[in-house]
Amino acid sequence: IVQQALEEIQNCENSSELNSVRVKYLGKKGIVTSLMKKLKELAPEERPIFGAAVNKAKNELLKKINEKLDELSQREKEKKYAAMAVDVTLPGARKDIGHFHILTQIQKELEDIFISMGFSVVEGPEVEDTWHNFDALNTPEWHPARDVQDSFYFTDKILLRTHTSPVQIRTMLNTQPPIAIISPGRVYRRDYDATHLPMFTQMEGLFVDKNVTVKHLKYCLEEMVTRVFGKDAKIRLKPSFFPFTEPSFEVDVWFGNDWLEILGAGMVDPNVFKSVGYDPEIWSGFAFGLGLERIAMVKYGIKDIRDFIRNDVKFLENY
Ligand code: PHE
Repeated sequence: IVQQALEEIQNCENSSELNSVRVKYLGKKGIVTSLMKKLKELAPEERPIFGAAVNKAKNELLKKINEKLDELSQREKEKKYAAMAVDVTLPGARKDIGHFHILTQIQKELEDIFISMGFSVVEGPEVEDTWHNFDALNTPEWHPARDVQDSFYFTDKILLRTHTSPVQIRTMLNTQPPIAIISPGRVYRRDYDATHLPMFTQMEGLFVDKNVTVKHLKYCLEEMVTRVFGKDAKIRLKPSFFPFTEPSFEVDVWFGNDWLEILGAGMVDPNVFKSVGYDPEIWSGFAFGLGLERIAMVKYGIKDIRDFIRNDVKFLENY
């Protein structure tokens, strides 16, 4: 019986098989256990010998079972750990965490460029009054730019700013020259098609000091353009008109084998200096206003300005 049992123990492949073998021999109704019950059927003098033999067998089997159990559970533990093991050399699963909107990227890029040239970033309110948005910028009541057709008015004196130029006025009113600021922000006009949005983004620039000339303006814009569009990009100034600059220019960039208009600029009109209490005999300056959507469209060949506000992830992921 012992021989048979030892063999069965040896052949066990896992702890539950081993447990069955244990029950079979040593359980309450097990083979070895039932041998003990036979004791009383024996002659009294045979009992001690028989009992000792059965006990010895029982102890031997118990010992073997425990040894086997140790061995099996060790092996089972190893198997379990192997299954749980993590290969730390595998690349992690990448989570798409998103990124800045194309316009925000362009804004930050331009801010960095102008900050590196000594400009500070300032902001102004999107709800303006007609004085800051027009009058102080040499744009009197009768001027066509003030046409209600083009602007969003709340009352006859309060409107959504049509450009970032009122920030020029606000800055000059609360600082003294020299001034070098840029001002990014949203502006609003009654316009809507593939190249116009009723809400779009501009960046104003204002530089005021003594003896400022068109050369300073040109240098500044050339620096910006080569850093945004690459070192082969060039600019050209074409005569234009804005009420708040004289002379005024439209500025084109040479990019992708074409001249493309990217901004308006000019030398600050003496009347603007007068409206903020600066002496135009002492102070001079340049200003520019660029459309951030426009810059992005030129740089990336985007054809429809409405793509910026569609929230189409397929589009946004390209930039
Ligand atoms: N404010 C002008 C516009 O919105 C742009 C501009 C700004 C032109 C500053 C000259 C100087 O079109």
